[in-house]
Amino acid sequence: MKSIASAPGKIILFGEHFVIYGIKAVLCSTDKRIIATSQFVDERIVRIRSSLGESEIGIESLDNLENVQQKFMRPFFHIAKKILMENSTKQGIEIAIESEIPAGVGLGSSSAACVAVTASVNGLFHKLSEKEVVKLAIEAERTIFEQNSGADSSISTFGGLASYDLKDGFQRIPSRNDLSFIISNSSQVHNTQDVVRQVRQFKEKNEDLFNRLCKEEMDIVDNAITSLKENDLNKLGSLMSRNHELLKQIGVSTEKIDVLINEAKKTAYGAKITGAGGGGCIIALVDNSNTKNTFDNLRKISDSFITKIDYNGLQHT
Ligand code: MEV
Repeated sequence: MKSIASAPGKIILFGEHFVIYGIKAVLCSTDKRIIATSQFVDERIVRIRSSLGESEIGIESLDNLENVQQKFMRPFFHIAKKILMENSTKQGIEIAIESEIPAGVGLGSSSAACVAVTASVNGLFHKLSEKEVVKLAIEAERTIFEQNSGADSSISTFGGLASYDLKDGFQRIPSRNDLSFIISNSSQVHNTQDVVRQVRQFKEKNEDLFNRLCKEEMDIVDNAITSLKENDLNKLGSLMSRNHELLKQIGVSTEKIDVLINEAKKTAYGAKITGAGGGGCIIALVDNSNTKNTFDNLRKISDSFITKIDYNGLQHT
């Protein structure tokens, strides 16, 4: 028996980093996915296979995940451990992870992998509710990234367009905007935890400025939610560009990112970093009927693609 689940990646439209300090973020899931396939094996091991590497440990060693050399694998072992324990089984499992999402560039590949793996491993026993999946996926991610806000795993599970904050969690934005974005990848791979740590240090050194930026971010997000409901793309684009200025101030942009942003802004409604920054990707909001100009200009200087909002979220067969 095989249990297959897939979960989408994401882009953050507004509020990355600030969401960790209680500000609302706005994000949507995208049309690229992670697919996880789980099955029982005869050996008493948990084996994980992915394009980024392969790792296996004996079921008895699942209590010592610090020993797992490839740190990014720990959340998956954590998920397997919890589910095997809850179902009182010592049977081994193999989990294969396939990805359509580039890793380490802010497009939500780690969270989507945790969501897909949680649903897929659980499917070997019984189906979990989406709320249960997201809870375990966030817990797993926090084994290597403690400050994780939970925004990425939530959108990957529920899909669509939503706001997220630490207090109220996931709130769907009631509109089915057919937005088009160009994603452009600086190919500067980042480590989200490191960038989040740098922002914390910036905050500690610049408390007053950081508080002012948080207030401004809050206004941007409120206006953005109104613009989304009214489908006012001009306004939305200029709010995105303004949000990028704030991200620059907290130190998460790079020269390469700013080159991409300036190029995008020539023809798009607006552009900004998406995700942790420190490299990674930018998003540019473009008109549905005119994606070509921005796309052609950006792909001359970096790997770029067009994306749409995915309204399906976690899929489980
Ligand atoms: C990463 O996609 C978004 C951050 O805000 C981290 C988080 O929310 O956990 C940088």
